[in-house]
Amino acid sequence: MRGKLLGFSIFGESHGKAVGVLIEGLPPGIEVSVEELKGELERRKGIERFATKRKETDEPKILSGVFRGRTTGTPVVVIVENRDVDSSYYEEIRNTPRPGHADYPAGIKYFGYNDYRGGGHFSGRLTVGVVIAGYFAKKLLEREGIKVRAYLKRIGRVEAHVSPEELLSSENPYCPDERAFDAMVEEMERARKAGDSVGGVVETVAFNVPPGLGGPWEEDIEADIASALFRIPAVKGVEFGLGFGLAELRGSQANDPFALKDGKVVTETNNHGGVLGGITTGMPLVVRAAFKPTPSIYLPQRTVDLERMEEVTLRLRGRFDSCIVPKALPVVESAVAFVIADHLLRRRAWEGMAR
Ligand SMILES: Cc1cc2nc3c(=O)[nH]c(=O)nc-3n(C[C@H](O)[C@H](O)[C@H](O)COP(=O)(O)O)c2cc1C
Repeated sequence: MRGKLLGFSIFGESHGKAVGVLIEGLPPGIEVSVEELKGELERRKGIERFATKRKETDEPKILSGVFRGRTTGTPVVVIVENRDVDSSYYEEIRNTPRPGHADYPAGIKYFGYNDYRGGGHFSGRLTVGVVIAGYFAKKLLEREGIKVRAYLKRIGRVEAHVSPEELLSSENPYCPDERAFDAMVEEMERARKAGDSVGGVVETVAFNVPPGLGGPWEEDIEADIASALFRIPAVKGVEFGLGFGLAELRGSQANDPFALKDGKVVTETNNHGGVLGGITTGMPLVVRAAFKPTPSIYLPQRTVDLERMEEVTLRLRGRFDSCIVPKALPVVESAVAFVIADHLLRRRAWEGMAR
């Protein structure tokens, strides 16, 4: 993901030596801790029952850019080694691409040279790098009082209803709406028992984002966040504020009236999700990412044997998540935080110059 001042590059393969990230543009002096970072990576493991049986300790190794617990301002490189790797099965299914996964187009793009084991560079495991980059971004934002929080908005047909206050104060790391969360767990369990998978929606709210970040066209913060979110594997939809729901409304219902609160300009409602004209308004930034169900499922699926060029039935064995959405929570949160951090740095540059 390339912002104007901050950027990161993901590297590694699911069954290679390690996965990791190179982060460029972080200012010096940001306090970081490996223990905290480990905690963030722990969140990425999801709810055990619905996650793969792959057991990884996910021990982050900071190779550069941090000295005595603070960023130095030079490129940060962090890796996490892969340990619990079982590639034998992937040889069996090498010629039969999984429906819904990247196997088929990846083989074409890389002329068959790609590491296909465990999905290779297309595996969800690569999102470890996004969470690491997001951790550094969140530490930067924290200093400015900006908090970015994601929760499960929907799993299958179960939807949660959560107010911004509940999101900030909740102890549940997945969803503050406890009743909806219980129903979500049931939904994931039903899919798992059926040998199937289920998708969902992650909602992210960024609190205390100052007005004035972003701009029209090339600088649009909405476009940058959407672009970052669409890069996360399995994301198929992104919306801000009331999103697609706005299409059904009249202007009189959709517009958020401006008002004054404690001497500050606010809006009475937040259908715009905190962004107007590609620029933050100072209201909470609200964005949702829709995830498709996990492509790898245990039910038989039709595919093509690419060696023999005949249609066959694929019966997967192996280790797959019946629902990847809980795992994706910190990934989404991280991507949103990273983009906001980039825009905040750009804003700071202007604040220093515009007199
Ligand atoms: C955190 C995370 C974990 C994932 N785990 C799996 C998995 O265990 N099995 C699987 O088939 N897909 C998994 N995926 C989804 C695939 O990586 C993704 O669907 C695939 O690369 C194709 O890309 P696309 O869905 O964006 O088109 C995961 C995605 C994320 C974000």
